[in-house]
Amino acid sequence: MPEIVLQGVTKRFGSVTAVEDLTARILDREFFVVVGPTGCGKTTLLKLLAGLLQPDQGKIYFDGTVVNGLPPRERGVRMVFQGQDYALYPHLEVYDPRRWSNLSFPLKLRGERASRIQARVEGVVRRLGIPPALFSRRPGELSAGQKQRVALGRAMVLPPKVFLLDEPLSHLDPPARARARQEIRRLHHELRTTTVYVTHDLAEAFLLGDRVAVMRAGKFVQVGTPKEIRDHPADAFVAEFVRAYQEGLKQAFPGAP
Ligand SMILES: Nc1ncnc2c1ncn2[C@@H]1O[C@H](COP(=O)(O)OP(=O)(O)OP(=O)(O)O)[C@@H](O)[C@H]1O
Ligand SMILES: [Mg+2]
Repeated sequence: MPEIVLQGVTKRFGSVTAVEDLTARILDREFFVVVGPTGCGKTTLLKLLAGLLQPDQGKIYFDGTVVNGLPPRERGVRMVFQGQDYALYPHLEVYDPRRWSNLSFPLKLRGERASRIQARVEGVVRRLGIPPALFSRRPGELSAGQKQRVALGRAMVLPPKVFLLDEPLSHLDPPARARARQEIRRLHHELRTTTVYVTHDLAEAFLLGDRVAVMRAGKFVQVGTPKEIRDHPADAFVAEFVRAYQEGLKQAFPGAP
């Protein structure tokens, strides 16, 4: 749940048009990946979906109902932010099942008992590989990759209606990244939460996405399955993006066909 429709959505910051007349349909239960170069409007798009920004023009629908003007908490969305602090609570520890902590927060807010919190959080912690040694630390005492995993964990303990993930794995080393990617994919198979996932990385987009939108300068230049985008790039920009990705694969696996 749910289906998301954007209709002619535009967002400007002064003279910059971050999202321009964007029309798209993200299907119910879909894993939808937005990929594109820095500054093309990916984060702005997620914030519009979350309700943290309002469009200057156009409408956003969740299951056929306009959500423009609806505050974030009433949209049933959860966003994992890009950047250094990931909107973690700086004064709270990573995890304590009995108290307010970063990982127990969404469950405590719902009034869940400590035993239930423990079961939920500890499953997520195991999957993401967050070591218990980190539980008593505060976000300021974590590395960027550790913070990123805690932020992802907090989003996963209480699945929302819509997941908005903004480059959630960018600070992880390759093995941790591969593992977290698998967990995100597995979680989506289990829960089928409509997910919009932002990345710079076409390889990641192709691995994760049911469909992929290639974004450039505030617009989607192509939306399709990974195969459609790989085999039939819509224009020279997408073709170049795909070529660079395949070139990267060749370097990683020399001699591969
Ligand atoms: N609050 C703001 N005020 C002014 N300009 C902004 C603001 N937020 C974003 N922009 C501009 O809007 C454009 C899109 O920014 P956005 O953060 O959405 O890009 P992005 O695709 O997420 O980039 P990155 O891959 O680097 O995270 C950029 O030109 C950016 O400078
Ligand atoms: Mg961004």
